[in-house]
Amino acid sequence: MRLKDRIALVTGASRGIGRAVAERFAKEGAHVIATARTKGGLEELDDTIKKLGGSATLIPLDLMSQDGIEKMGQAVFERFKKLDVLVANAAVAAPLGPVSQISPKNWHESIMLNMTAQWRLIRSFEPLLKASDAGRAIFVTSGVTKGIPAYFGAYTATKAGMEGLVYTWCKEIEKTSIKANLLSPGAVRTQMRAGAFPGEDPLTVTPPEDIAGVFVELAEASCQKHGEWVRAQEPKPA
Ligand SMILES: NC(=O)c1ccc[n+]([C@@H]2O[C@H](COP(=O)([O-])OP(=O)(O)OC[C@H]3O[C@@H](n4cnc5c(N)ncnc54)[C@H](OP(=O)(O)O)[C@@H]3O)[C@@H](O)[C@H]2O)c1
Repeated sequence: MRLKDRIALVTGASRGIGRAVAERFAKEGAHVIATARTKGGLEELDDTIKKLGGSATLIPLDLMSQDGIEKMGQAVFERFKKLDVLVANAAVAAPLGPVSQISPKNWHESIMLNMTAQWRLIRSFEPLLKASDAGRAIFVTSGVTKGIPAYFGAYTATKAGMEGLVYTWCKEIEKTSIKANLLSPGAVRTQMRAGAFPGEDPLTVTPPEDIAGVFVELAEASCQKHGEWVRAQEPKPA
C-alpha cells in the first residue's frame, strides 16, 4: 500500500500503459482519477479496481479540448481540494513516414495532444499539486528523443517539445514540495507499439503491468527524484 489514500490522476487510462498504471496505483491504495475518451475502457478499469477493493473516479474526456482540461481541474479541486499524483501518459504516435509527407491533420493532432495538452495539464493542476503535502508528476516520454530514428518526425518533435516544457517547469517549482520527472517506458506491448511496429511479435515485448512499478516509485511521497529522465527498462535490442 505504497500509495495509500493518495489521489492520483492518470491520463490515457482506458488501455495500454495508462490502464496498467491505474490498476497498479489502485492496488497500492490510491484513489484513481482515470481519464480517456473511451468510456468502455474506463468502465472496465473501474470494474477491475472495484474487484481489488479500490475506488476510482472516471472522467471521459478528449484532451484535445483545452476547456475540458480546465474543467477537469475545477472538478478535481471541488471534490478533492488537491492532487497528489499526476501521470501525464496519453499521447498519439502519428503514422510513420518522412517528415516531408506528414499530413497537416497528423501534425496538428500530435502538437495538440503531445504538447499543448501537457502544458494545459501543468497549467490546470500545478495549484492542486502544490496543495498536496508531496505532489508528484510523471510525464511519459519516449526513447526517440535520445536515439532519434527516421520516420517518427511528428512523434519525436512533440515528445522533445514536451521534455523541454517539463524541464523548464521543474526549474520553476524547485523550491516547492512538488517532484516532477520524465519517464521513458521502453518497448511495451500496447496498441501504439503494435501500430508502429506491425511486424513485431507482441509476445517479445514487455507487458504494461511489468513497468508499472517504476511509476509507483516516482509517485510515492518519499520519491526525491526531480527533473530527471528515467528509463522504465533497458531499450529492446534491435
Ligand atoms: N508502448 C510503447 O512501446 C511506448 C514506448 C515509448 C513511449 N510510450 C508512451 O507511453 C504512453 C502510453 O502509450 P501506450 O503505448 O499505452 O499507447 P496506447 O495503447 O495507444 O494508449 C494511449 C492512451 O491515450 C489515450 N488517448 C489517445 N488520444 C487521446 C485523446 N485525444 N484524449 C484523451 N486520451 C487520449 C487513449 O485512450 P482513448 O483512445 O480512449 O482516448 C489510451 O488510453 C504514451 O505517452 C506513449 O508515447 C509508449
